Order: sequence, then structure tokens, then C-alpha cells
Amino acid sequence: MGATIPRHRLFSMRNTLVRALILAVAMFAIGGIFLPPDVDVRAAILKTAASAREAMTLQTPMGRPESAGWGPDGEPGEQDVAVAGDEVQPTISNSSHVMTCGYDMERLKRWQELYGLEEIFEYTKRYVQARREDIPRKSVTRLDQDFLADAVKVVDVNKQYQAESCPEPLIAPVTMSPFPSTANASDFMFGVSTTYKRFIDPRTSSINEWTYWLTDGKGKSNGGKLVLLLLDASDDQLEDAHSKLANVGIDVDVYRSDPSLIMAVRYLDLAPKLYNHPERVNKKWLVICDDDTFFPSFNGLADRFAQYDHEKPMYIGTFSEDVNNIQRHGSQAFGGAGVFLSVPMAAIIADRFESCSSDHKIRQSDSGWGPQGDIMLRLCIYDNSEVRLTLLNDLWQLDFLGDPSGFYESGVKPLSLHHYRGGIWHVAYPWHYTKVAHACGEDCTMQRFRTADDFVIANGYSIAYYPRGIDFDLNQIEATFRPAPDDKGWNLDFMMGPQRPPLRKSGRKIAWELLEANVNEDGSVSQVYVSKRKDSRWTNGDGSPMNNRDGIIELVWLPE
Ligand SMILES: *[C@@H]1O[C@H](CO)[C@@H](O)[C@H](O)[C@H]1NC(C)=O
Ligand SMILES: *[C@@H]1O[C@H](CO)[C@@H](O)[C@H](O)[C@H]1NC(C)=O
Repeated sequence: MGATIPRHRLFSMRNTLVRALILAVAMFAIGGIFLPPDVDVRAAILKTAASAREAMTLQTPMGRPESAGWGPDGEPGEQDVAVAGDEVQPTISNSSHVMTCGYDMERLKRWQELYGLEEIFEYTKRYVQARREDIPRKSVTRLDQDFLADAVKVVDVNKQYQAESCPEPLIAPVTMSPFPSTANASDFMFGVSTTYKRFIDPRTSSINEWTYWLTDGKGKSNGGKLVLLLLDASDDQLEDAHSKLANVGIDVDVYRSDPSLIMAVRYLDLAPKLYNHPERVNKKWLVICDDDTFFPSFNGLADRFAQYDHEKPMYIGTFSEDVNNIQRHGSQAFGGAGVFLSVPMAAIIADRFESCSSDHKIRQSDSGWGPQGDIMLRLCIYDNSEVRLTLLNDLWQLDFLGDPSGFYESGVKPLSLHHYRGGIWHVAYPWHYTKVAHACGEDCTMQRFRTADDFVIANGYSIAYYPRGIDFDLNQIEATFRPAPDDKGWNLDFMMGPQRPPLRKSGRKIAWELLEANVNEDGSVSQVYVSKRKDSRWTNGDGSPMNNRDGIIELVWLPE
């Protein structure tokens, strides 16, 4: 028995041979990931590292994940020296939340399958302690901590690993913004017209999204009223839609829309529908929106509308971000971002509905792309009153194509989002993005935190790493997307400002993007960010991947 070498002795950093091998592995990994592809020494390092890695693997104690070797300067494997026993006590954070840094292989395997990762991938878990302070919301907050506290670990879903102790959480100062559960939407009634098919299809259903901005998240209405008009729905289907929404706490009335009306008229018809609703007497704002309109910060929205005079006729909304669309369709509220009508405004539309929806008006609202409901609404208001659109540019129509990350990573605090269900538009998961607001308040959704080692957390959307440093203006939006269909090069500039060139395929940026988030029982929020080796954006100039493995970063936000 006396001959057994204590496990940790093998990893003693006094052993110069092991140290050299470890350094070689570290260099290999860093070289493979971040050096420009034309560096000569690479082949030599590759060869050394291959044998070094074999030696390493032989000496790795069973049950500890391998290190990817990139990230902080410290030698990978070093933390194994510090861990004495197999039992790792959960760490208690200052906010008395338990922090655990184990390897729950069931979860990791589920994610690997769900998100199509390779069986061996990098996994990093990091806790973030939100610290609520009396400060304004900053677009970027600098943290003096590093994002990577340890070497990045590589796991194989077919193996089991011992738990490790958690590093100190990142400390993120946030504002004292209200939580989604405290939003009061009683001044608002929303009208949405869609089909039963879209309502019921998990790919297009908005039940989860509506639950976020129409309830307190605990099964109770926040006072907001939803009037849902369904096309092509049977009585059973209307009943089904009603019970599905009522069961999650949404205060909703469901009606069948009149199939004899063309789409643009059905849209205009929402204004009199809301105005004639018996609960209108208790409302200040009647809102027409699409089934993919999302309000990520309802407290912020309600505060903003408290500043407008609801007793006057008012028409409030935003333009398309694409100047082409304004030229094509006219200067008006683009409905996907949400169109807000004061009750006196809706009264005028209800009163003039017949003339506003005449055949003549239908022809007049055809921009060459068919009759447009938005145009019909504008004509109805402009022909019958002196009211003109009040622009609220924090509402977003999101009329662009392609990779939306430049927008979601810009530090923006949007009051609405739209067009995130794919098809020709972009794909995004705002219901998941906003989960973190339950832990750190509404302001911290999509707020950015820049760590000392050049990671930028765009909270809820992505974690990006800039291996060659941040030598560009984070206050400008990265042009990851494009306008459709004619790109003048400046279509979006009047709403977004000129955008900086994209960093894809340059070796300068790699990002893990959020695919799922969950509010845990203790009030903390887990976020799952994923990056794929084969993502063509995260490549060097020569097309080689910046990272040789898929990766998951799990962030857990601790409330105070
Ligand atoms: C926990 O408290 C200690 C001592 O008060 C402090 O040094 C440390 O920064 C705190 N950590 C967190 C996560 O708040
Ligand atoms: C919500 O707002 C309404 C109308 O402004 C007000 O009457 C009501 O008291 C508020 N509810 C809560 C819970 O604050």
C-alpha cells in the first residue's frame, strides 16, 4: 500500500517534464484556435502536442474532465492539484444561494442531443451575482474580473465526472429596475389577429411570449387584456384557445374573425373591436399588434406611456428600420412593433370605419404589394383628424434579414421586438432572453458586461469572446444583418446609426448564443449558451474554425 503514489503528486507543478508537456498542450490549443493560420511552428507544435496529450490523458485521474487549454494563462490541470478529495462541498454564495459546479451528465446529454452538438464538447459553468445599485442603465458595464476563472473543460457525454468547487461568481452591478412580475398592464388592451393554426403550432404559437408580458409569471394576470381574433377556427378551437390562455393566467377574450374581410380590413377592424369592448371604459391605450410582437420590458413600456396624454387622440408607433419600406409603403406606424391608440383616437376610427374600409380606401392602401393594413390605418387617421404619428423609436419592427446578433448584442433596451420567428425574417427567442429579468430586473435583459479578458456578455442573448481584443466601437451596432430586398448600404442608418463592419470569418470574434433559459426554484436563472465548431461565422480568414470543439457555457444569475 505504501507504494501507491498519491494522485495529486502526478500533477505537482514542480515536475518539470509534466510542466513542459502541459505548456505544449496549452500552446497547441491556443495556436490551433487563435494564431493566424500561416504560422510555421504550428506543425511542430501539433506533433509535440499530440504525444503530450496522450501522456496527459494517461495521467489524468479518472473522473476529471480534460481541459481544452485555451482561455486564462494558467496551466491547465493545475486546479487538480488543489482538489484534495472526491467530495466537493457546494459553495454558498453571499446571497445564500447554493452554487454547484458538478457535471450533470443527464442535462448535458439532453442539450447535446437537442442542440446537435458533438459528443465531446467544451462545458463552462459560471455564476453571476447581480448587485442592484442606484445607478443608471449602461449600455456596457466593465467588470474587473475575468470571465474564465479556470481552463475550459472538455466533457464526453458518455462519461461521468466528479463535481468541482465553483469559482467566485462574477459580480455584475445592475440598476434597481422593477421585475417582470410587478408590471401593471391594466391601462392596456391588446388586439391580435391570427389563425388557429398559427396559434396552436409550437413553432409559431405565442402562448409563452404572452405569458411573459400579460401575467406576473405565477399564473396571475397583470391586468393587461388580450382580445384575440382567430381566422378559420371552429367553436371548439375558439374554446381550446381560450382555455389554453386562461390556464396560464392571461385575461383573454377569443373571437372568430370575419372571413369575408380581406386581411388589411381585418387589421383595421381591430380598432373598433377594441373600442367597442365593454372593458374599454377602464383602459387608456388600445394596442394593435401582430402575433409575433413581444414586449420585453413592460414596466418600462407602462412608464413611457404614463408620459403621454391618453385623453387626447394619439397615434403612437414606430417606422420600419428600412428606409426602403417607408418609401414603398409611406410614413406611418409599422404594426409589428405595436400601434398604440388612445381611446379618443380609437373612437374616431370606430366612427369612420365604413368609409375608412371602402373599396376606394382598399385601392388607395395598395402600395403595389397588396392592400396594407398599416396604410389603411394611417389614411383613416390622417383623413379624419389632424392627429399625426408620434414616433416612439424604442419600439422595433425589425425589418431586416439574416443574423440578428448585431442588434441583440448592441446593449439596446427595446420596448418591443418583432419578426423573430424565422421564415424570411430572423430567428430569436425573446421569451428565453427575458427570463433573466426575473433575477436581476427588467433593465438587465440584453445589458452588456465586458470582462477583463475581453468577453462581452450581452445578457440573455450571447457571450462573445474577442481574442484579438476589443479595438472597435462597442457603441455602434455590428452589421451582421442586411436590409431586404435592395441594399443601398445605408437603408437602416436613420434608425440604427451607421453600423460597424461585421466580424464574422475574421478570427476576431466567437460567440456562444442563448438557446434556453430557466427560472430555478431558488429564484436564480440558468442560461444555456451554445457555440458550434462548424458555425461558419466563427472562422479564421482561411476558413478554419476558431475553436476545434462545440461548446456550452452555462451562466447562473443569482438574485440578491
Ligand atoms: C462575499 O463577501 C466577501 C466578504 O464580505 C467579499 O469579499 C466578496 O466579494 C463577496 N462575494 C460576493 C459574490 O458578493
Ligand atoms: C394598476 O394600475 C391601475 C390603473 O392605473 C390601478 O388602478 C391599480 O391600482 C394598479 N394595480 C396595482 C396592483 O398597482
